[in-house]
Amino acid sequence: MSTDARYDGTPMTGRAPAESVGRILVTEAQINQRVRELGAQITADYAGKKPLLVAVLRGAYMFLADLSREIDLPVEIDFMAVSSYGNQTASSGVVRILKDLDEDLEGRHVIVVEDIIDSGLTLSYLRRNLKNRAAASVEVCALLVREGRQKVDEELAYVGFELPPDFVVGYGLDASGQFRNLPYIAEYTQ
Ligand code: IMP
Ligand code: MG
Repeated sequence: MSTDARYDGTPMTGRAPAESVGRILVTEAQINQRVRELGAQITADYAGKKPLLVAVLRGAYMFLADLSREIDLPVEIDFMAVSSYGNQTASSGVVRILKDLDEDLEGRHVIVVEDIIDSGLTLSYLRRNLKNRAAASVEVCALLVREGRQKVDEELAYVGFELPPDFVVGYGLDASGQFRNLPYIAEYTQ
């Protein structure tokens, strides 16, 4: 797919009117390439270990599926769902756990798999929460980081792409529940 392969609005189940989806910021090919690199890096960094990948629902589901297949280690997978109070496009930092992990974290090497870090408040809460469960280590692998927006200085071990301020959709990310199944990351134009 080329960079200007913009979704043309052809009606398709779960897809959107063309006017809501703008410029493609990260193509399918760029995502694939970067996910391969991140997987290789994690494979090298965690050699001899069995990391537990903790995906934050729902946005990270697609990234987790692809990333986990690029990690050549005996990984385990678990899910957490959180919701941050606040309006639709900004995080308040007050996080509520909607679905907790099934696994015990004691002694585990945890890699939190996130879709996008915006203010960093969700992640900051999650990291504190997971560390309190006696994990051996907690690192973060975020597909996207929005430049210059972090309110808390979070150390991110693995980052896919840095993005400008625009709200984005696709590859797991939604706007009001829509557009998660686009295979690329595009601007959301409302
Ligand atoms: P933070 O707490 O401000 O870092 O917010 C992070 C969460 O907000 C992400 O995990 C997403 O669920 C959501 N989010 C932030 N920016 C976007 C976006 O551009 N598109 C879709 N979801 C977003
Ligand atoms: Mg999220």
